[in-house]
Formats: sequence, structure tokens, C-alpha cells
Amino acid sequence: MALASIRIVGPGRAGQSFAQACEAVGLQVDLLAREAAVASAASDVDVVLIATPDRAIAQVARAISPGDAVVLHCSGATGLIPLAGHPRHGSIHPLMALPSAEVGATRLRDHGWFAVAGDPAAAQIVDLFGGQSFVVDDAKRALYHATAAVSANHLVALLGQVERLADQVGVPVQAFLDLARGSFDDVVAHGAAAALTGPAARGDHTTLDAHRVALPPSERGLYDTLVVAAQHLADRSRGVRPCVHTGRRIERERRMTVQVTTTLAETWELLDAARAEGKTVGLVPTMGFLHAGHASLIQASAAENDVTLTTIFVNPLQFGADEDLSDYPRDLERDLKLCQEAGATVVLTPSVDEMYPQPIVTTVTVNELSEAMEGAQRPTHFAGVATVVAKLFHIGGRCRAYFGEKDYQQLAVVRRMVSDLSFQVQVIGCPIVREENGLAMSSRNTYLSTEQFAAAAVLNRSLRSAVELVQAGERDADVVRSHIIDMIATEPLVSAPDYVAIVGADSLQPLTQLSGDVRIILAAQVGRPRLLDNIGVSLDR
Ligand code: PAJ
Repeated sequence: MALASIRIVGPGRAGQSFAQACEAVGLQVDLLAREAAVASAASDVDVVLIATPDRAIAQVARAISPGDAVVLHCSGATGLIPLAGHPRHGSIHPLMALPSAEVGATRLRDHGWFAVAGDPAAAQIVDLFGGQSFVVDDAKRALYHATAAVSANHLVALLGQVERLADQVGVPVQAFLDLARGSFDDVVAHGAAAALTGPAARGDHTTLDAHRVALPPSERGLYDTLVVAAQHLADRSRGVRPCVHTGRRIERERRMTVQVTTTLAETWELLDAARAEGKTVGLVPTMGFLHAGHASLIQASAAENDVTLTTIFVNPLQFGADEDLSDYPRDLERDLKLCQEAGATVVLTPSVDEMYPQPIVTTVTVNELSEAMEGAQRPTHFAGVATVVAKLFHIGGRCRAYFGEKDYQQLAVVRRMVSDLSFQVQVIGCPIVREENGLAMSSRNTYLSTEQFAAAAVLNRSLRSAVELVQAGERDADVVRSHIIDMIATEPLVSAPDYVAIVGADSLQPLTQLSGDVRIILAAQVGRPRLLDNIGVSLDR
């Protein structure tokens, strides 16, 4: 059936761009504010297009009464679940930036690419625009959107490095942008592997080493990552297995620069000297037995600071009497290698005597935030964490400090301590790094058998499923909690969770009705270890 009319909800840049483009191809257009959607129905028009920010799509879809019209959204990252209440639904995502209504309307009709899913009306609109469509179903949504982010945002981030470096060399950035444009054209004409030139493709390590020495430390992380990517691309085009020479070179250079200290005095001396040269310091506190989650914090610090201090200290103060202090896993040699590879410059590995020369009588307690969840299970834990982190902050001095969202309550406790006690530390929270099956990485995962490791994936699965439930409209915290508990109960190797907390993301206060920035946090025993996981979801208030 030919389309004649469309109602667009959300008069932002995307909505207005679609409205102008639809008018230009002869559709009758009705552009509504988001609030007006409450009184509207999916009838009297052929198509209703929800063009709101992603987090509002489910709410707007629920507000519109179902009818004969096809309900579409135009988000790249969102699947079709939020539209499931409408019998005919789908999505149309223009793979292009829509910076303003005028530019957007022109681009939409400029023979561009669109991802479509669901009802054929989406592809019909693309045909009217003269565009080209491809189908992306829900299972591949996140991967599709990630690819779009790499093509658009990451390429721009890389050109940001070009701008900064051009400025430092004192050469007009236009010269390098013309070079970049030539490379882009070569990729379009011949493919990435054939377009690759330069020292990484040639395996010219002498030149690459000279580059690394010349680059400001804060630019090296991105440079190193792309040298390895270029090397792999070159190896692939030669039909050989990826070679790791470049990685080894980088590692060797790092080995020469990383310094291992065991005393606070020598660490202070190194950091004071670095600061006197105007260098910035990043701090990554750990208890060792490091994995890719810890490495991500070190990498984040190395990318933003001239010096990265990683501390490895199994802190007795934060273990309860019946906990695993004496056999907490340790492997210093492997940890130092990981620190070097990830870009640490100083690694402090103090003894217990160095950290606590006499029985400690001065401690830091962060009230309220420490009481629920982990605090209820482990009453002395957060005082132990806050006290050692306060000491580590005195060692790090003025710095940025990197913590994982994996231990979400710990991150909140540390942030509050910094604010209450005026530490000169900027706390940076970093995303959770996961195993391939979704399990959050943890030093204690080493205690899991193969079967327990597989079963533990249910923790993250249940959290992701809960977020889908919330995105489809559920707001009752008890319903969401029961959903998680029921899902976990399907895995016999995973105990009933110690807690499933649904809290405000900043306040950590329990919610009964979900709104605003929400965090769902849980802990459950799987065999020997208790495992933690959490997930965030943002809702309109
Ligand atoms: P540890 O468990 O070794 O963790 C050190 C840091 O790594 C913490 O900030 C933690 O949140 C982060 N981390 C652990 N697993 C992660 C993952 N899968 N993804 C992202 N980050 C992850 O937490 C501690 O040590 C201690 O309590 C400490 C803060 C060092 C104080 O003793």
C-alpha cells in the first residue's frame, strides 16, 4: 500500500529532518511534541515515527494507543522490543549525522544508507527518499551500532589526535587532513588492507620506537593500540598469522621504563620529581592477581596521565575474620608483566609492615553508604577499604584515581570520602570488563570450576534481562527484583543472591518505583566465591 501520511513524535533535529524530508517527497506530515504523544493514537495516519532520544522511546510508545498505523522508531541502538505493544512496528535508522533540520533533510534524500527492521513500511520510506536499505535485526543491533560508532565517532577521535599532534609540531593541520583524505579515498577504492602503508605495515621497528619516544606519554596509548591493529591488518593481507613483533617491542620499551617500588618513601620521591617536571599522575589501586579489568584501569590512566602508579597490596584491614585473606590469589611476576603491558610507569608493592608499621588506631568510616549491600554482609569491609584508599591517596598525592564500576558500592564510598575529606584526587569510574560469557572479571573467578564459571554467567544475563524488562515499561522494583531472583534460581550451581538492590545510581538509596538513573546491584555465592555484578539504566523522571 502506498504511504500518504506520517506523524512524527519528537521535534528535535532528527524529527525535524525527517519531517522536512517526508514533506519534500509528498507525504502529509504532522510533527508532534513528545508530550502531545500522550493523547495520540496510531490511527488516522499510515505511519507514526518516534524520533525522541533513545531512552524515551519505550515511554512514548506506551503513551500512543495502538491502531492500524505502523509505529517506527529511528534509533540505531534500540531494538524492536519497546514497540512490541503495537501490532505493526519497525525501525528506520539513517546511517548519517543529522546536525540540523536543513542539512538533515537534504542528507536523508541524498541516496544514503538506512538500517531497517520489522514492518516493510520502513523500507518503503527509504525508497521514497531514494536511499539504500539493509536489514539489521535485534540480535545484531549493538554490533551494528558499535560499527557505526567506529566509522563516525572513533574516526573523529583519531583525527582529534592528528589535530593535537599537528599543533605540537607547528604544522598546519590541513596538511595532515589532506593526507587523511587521500588514505580514506584509497580505502574506498581498494579496501583497508591494500590501502595500508607506513612503518607498521613494513615492520620498521626502529622508526616506530623513535615515534614512541617522541610522542607525549598521554598520546602513546592510542598510538600503540593502532600500531598493533595496523600490524595485524598487514599480516592478514600477506596471509600470515598475526605477528606480535610490534607488541614485543612496545613491551620491551615499557619494561625499561616501569619502576617497581616497595617503600612509600621511594614512591613519594619518584612522584614528587615527576610533578616538579610538570607531569600529571594517575593512580590505580589493586590487590593484585590482575586481569583485563585491572588492565583497563591502567590503560585509562596511561592514556590521560604522564605517570601511572599502580599499587598491588592485599589489604588485611578489609577482610573479615572468616574471609580468604591468607589464600587470596597472588602472582606478582605475572602482575608486573601485565602492569608493564598496560602502560604503568611505577608499581608499588608494599609489605604489610610498610603499610601498617604499628597496629592501626586511626581509621576512616564512610557512614550510610557503607551500611547496606556489601556492608550488611561484611560489616568491617568498607572501613578497611576507605582507610587503605585514604593512605594510597596520600601516597599518590594530587592525582586522578581510577576505580572499576564492578565494585559499584566501593566506588560510591571512595567518591564520598574524597568529597567529605577534601582529597586532591579526581575519582574516575571505569566500565566493567567481562568474560566472553558476560561474567564480570574478578580475581576470585579463579576459584570457579569450569561448570561454575559457565553457570555464573546467569548473574549478568539476569541483569540484562531486567534492563530489557524496565525498558519495556516495568517500573516496580519488586517485580524487577523477582524477575532477577527467578532467573538466577534456574541455575542450580548459583546460590540464591545475598541481595538484589535496586538503588539510585548516585545516592545508593533503595527505590520502590524506578525513575532517573538507576543501578541494579547484586551479589551471589557460586561455589566458593561470592560474585558481584551490577548494571545501570537511565529513565526519564
Ligand atoms: P581489586 O579487587 O584488586 O580491584 C582493583 C580495582 O579493579 C577496583 O577499582 C575494581 O573495581 C577494579 N576491577 C576489578 N574487576 C574489574 C572488572 N571486571 N572490570 C573493571 N574494573 C574491575 O577493589 C580492590 O581491589 C580493593 O578494594 C582496593 C580498592 C584496591 C583497596 O584495597
